[in-house]
Amino acid sequence: MSEGQAQGSPATPPESPRVLIVGNSGQLGRELERSFRSFGCIVGADRKTVNLADPDSIRALVRRESPNVILNAAAYTAVDRAETESDLAFAVNARAPGVLAEEARRCGALFVHYSTDYVFDGKKPEPWVETDKPLPLNIYGASKLAGERGVEEAGGNYLILRTSWVYGPHGNNFLLTMLRLAKERSILSIVDDQVGAPTTSIELARATHAIVTGLLADRFGSLQECSGIYHMACAGATSWFGFAQAIFARAARQLGVKAPELIPIGSKDYPMPAARPHNSVLSNEKLYTQFGVRLAKWDTALDEVMQLLSSGR
Ligand SMILES: NC(=O)c1ccc[n+]([C@@H]2O[C@H](COP(=O)([O-])OP(=O)(O)OC[C@H]3O[C@@H](n4cnc5c(N)ncnc54)[C@H](OP(=O)(O)O)[C@@H]3O)[C@@H](O)[C@H]2O)c1
Repeated sequence: MSEGQAQGSPATPPESPRVLIVGNSGQLGRELERSFRSFGCIVGADRKTVNLADPDSIRALVRRESPNVILNAAAYTAVDRAETESDLAFAVNARAPGVLAEEARRCGALFVHYSTDYVFDGKKPEPWVETDKPLPLNIYGASKLAGERGVEEAGGNYLILRTSWVYGPHGNNFLLTMLRLAKERSILSIVDDQVGAPTTSIELARATHAIVTGLLADRFGSLQECSGIYHMACAGATSWFGFAQAIFARAARQLGVKAPELIPIGSKDYPMPAARPHNSVLSNEKLYTQFGVRLAKWDTALDEVMQLLSSGR
């Protein structure tokens, strides 16, 4: 990540805000815990602490912790399973963010929430901007869009950060799936007609840290003025096939993985329960204009994750 205005952020914010990280066991939640260590007072809430399908459990958590900042990294992220578990997907992705945002307003906290490129139908050839009309193709996207609306309607201070193709050194993601499949198969067929920006949990957490630090130090204007939806993804774009090629070029060199033969295929040749957008590329210009923050290019961010994997982190 590179920062414009955000450069020179103090390592610690002016006071010691209490930060509640919901979903701290997920890919992004883990990295947020790492990035926000400098805040001093972090409370992580995993599934044992809060059940997001139960609004009373959410209210009890926020009222008990009384945070200054809530980072919601939790979500129902099983895109295909959501097609048959829509009640649970909507409970976690649509209702829970609204309840969290209401509770954030009640205790005067800044609420940071993450959403997805899958709110769009992928039919526009250019990168998607925040004012484009969402039209989700699947239940997961519809549930995330409903969650955005719930956060907006709660009326507090919030950031909705839409991102894409999240992965990192831990968790359930495309990179780790590719490395596992390479041990099992010599040929892999990978979809080549869905384009997006693979985005690391590490870059997302760093950028979130820079923005929250700047907001709390009053460097970007009032929280109310800054509240809104922002796209936040790594720069550049590729297809899943291009991403797989980049992964195996590095994995062969750095991890000694025997690269499988990769065959590009169309989405129609790989039917999945949930339809996916063809163009998932998000424009990050609003984020840069408002906060001076840009995430690294996707292949540079991949280098960092491969480095971490090869060093055993
Ligand atoms: N992954 C992607 O490709 C992608 C793309 C675009 C946007 N996003 C968005 O980015 C954010 C972070 O995604 P991620 O990939 O880091 O997610 P993740 O790794 O799947 O983690 C999700 C987290 O939510 C928790 N969770 C799920 N259901 C819960 C429930 N009922 N009660 C309490 N906790 C619950 C999980 O707990 P357990 O660990 O116990 O299951 C986990 O900590 C999400 O808002 C997601 O929608 C992700």
